[in-house]
Amino acid sequence: MLKLDKRLAAIAEEINCRVLADIGTDHGKIVVYCLQSGRAERAYAVDISQKSLQKARILAQSRGVDASIAFVVGDGLTDVGEDADCVVIAGMGGHEIIRILSGRRLDTRYVLVPHQDAAALRFYLSENGYFAEKDYVISEGKRFYDIIVCKNGQGNYKKSELYIGKNTPPVSIFMERLEARRAIIQGVTARAKDVSKELKQELEDINNALQD
Ligand SMILES: C[S@@+](CC[C@H](N)C(=O)[O-])C[C@H]1O[C@@H](n2cnc3c(N)ncnc32)[C@H](O)[C@@H]1O
Repeated sequence: MLKLDKRLAAIAEEINCRVLADIGTDHGKIVVYCLQSGRAERAYAVDISQKSLQKARILAQSRGVDASIAFVVGDGLTDVGEDADCVVIAGMGGHEIIRILSGRRLDTRYVLVPHQDAAALRFYLSENGYFAEKDYVISEGKRFYDIIVCKNGQGNYKKSELYIGKNTPPVSIFMERLEARRAIIQGVTARAKDVSKELKQELEDINNALQD
């Protein structure tokens, strides 16, 4: 079985479906692992870059699972079949994920792992009828990653969760992450002449959460 790093293993843990669509598949590890482990029966491996998709194809062939994969060079969800019952979009910025979600809506389960601008993504999900079942943090090395699992439904972010996340299910590193983020914001605000109202709000939400 393919070995995954901690971030990819956490993403794979959220997948248990018939047809997986991995948008921005790149190395193809999520798709290959999910097919090998029975977490998916078939998959769409999608990448906007032919060169990236080639990496996924080579890995899948070497592991003997390529026959279960439709390899698609494409932008976001454009060429994904309606049969996809789990969509993963990981390793992109929150704004690119928003662009992809805005391009086409599927009635499916989404596993979203933005590498930055998670707050922008939460605002979008909240205002566009996505129900977040989970929103929690994992860490790998010195980095923290948000994992957001959502589906079509009533937006359910509280105002106080938009910047910092839901911590659902609760994980102990949530507080550690808030402390780390607070230190970064305090460093920025100490140097900056003008501080944006978004950053001020985030700091206030962090302070409130750390006081609770
Ligand atoms: C940093 S890699 C992430 C790989 C993998 N998903 C992960 O989390 O480790 C980002 C990949 O997304 C692809 N990508 C970026 N925008 C895309 C889009 N709109 N549609 C499909 N693929 C996209 C890039 O070509 C690249 O291969």
